[in-house]
Amino acid sequence: MTKAHTSPLTDLLHRPRRLRRTPALRRMVRETHLTVNDLIYPLFVMEGEGQKVEIASMPGCYRYALDLLVKEVLECWELGINAIALFPVISESKKDHTGSESYNPQGLVQQTVRSIKQAVPDIVVITDVALDPFTTHGHDGLIDENGTIVNDPTVEVLVKMALSQAASGTDMVAPSDMMDGRVGAIRKALDAEGYINVGILAYSAKYASAYYGPFRDALDSAPKFGDKKTYQMDTANAREALKEVALDIAEGADIVMVKPALAYLDIIHQIRLETNLPIAAYNVSGEYAMIKAAANVGWIDEKKVILETLNSIKRAGADLILTYFAKEVALMLR
Ligand code: PBG
Repeated sequence: MTKAHTSPLTDLLHRPRRLRRTPALRRMVRETHLTVNDLIYPLFVMEGEGQKVEIASMPGCYRYALDLLVKEVLECWELGINAIALFPVISESKKDHTGSESYNPQGLVQQTVRSIKQAVPDIVVITDVALDPFTTHGHDGLIDENGTIVNDPTVEVLVKMALSQAASGTDMVAPSDMMDGRVGAIRKALDAEGYINVGILAYSAKYASAYYGPFRDALDSAPKFGDKKTYQMDTANAREALKEVALDIAEGADIVMVKPALAYLDIIHQIRLETNLPIAAYNVSGEYAMIKAAANVGWIDEKKVILETLNSIKRAGADLILTYFAKEVALMLR
């Protein structure tokens, strides 16, 4: 190696730049490695056949009819993606006040799970447990005559929904509703029915975030009145997240999740210090949309920003990332 110029002004023992000098050195001391195994791909399924419709506020994401969704899932599996998270777009005519379509054995989610399991049996299928895609009012729970979201009666419906998803062959249920006690109730019911191997990915620290906007466009599920602040968490709170996580773990969660990811990296980090369970983070629709929008007008280098972003989520302490970039990243990492 050639000698370097030195200066009498510096007399350095430590020179951190030594380890950044070449790509090989940088690879040797790299602390965080993003792989395709970290990714969970959220996908939207709609009724019908032979169609896919791009979501305006999420360029590159589609609502797929079942046949095309199954093709997409197969492609993802071939790219090395281990898991998908499924979200249904339910037609208005099937929605009601109590979200009863959510536990219809012939419902869209149930049919989709069966079709995926037939075509791509080994991919991990994660189904969302929450009422908002199924209710006329767009809330995640049942409402009483005053418009209050009622907890325990909602949990009863969520349990029915989880059981019917389990019966259709899902690998994991993912309660995203933030009702109290739902993880324990779902675990108990699954076990009682013999579904001891169906896992629970709990949306443990889910914030009342403005970053869900594009997702609500995708599902047509924005609340028709009020907001979700009586069940989703206050965006200012961190200790409360630790409390929610502790409760979900005590109730039997297999994986805990923080959502959204980017504005909550500190929460991911704090939870990492508290639990040995796998931690998932949801890189949500608004986070996706911001990158896509800036990239679209040429303001950022999309691929680099995606990788840097997902790396930051892993570096904060997440093991798994739900991200709409999953397929793009799987292609990039090949
Ligand atoms: C609903 C649910 C939401 C998301 C996942 N499940 C929206 C909400 O709570 O209003 C958001 C996902 C995203 O924005 O990407 N239970």
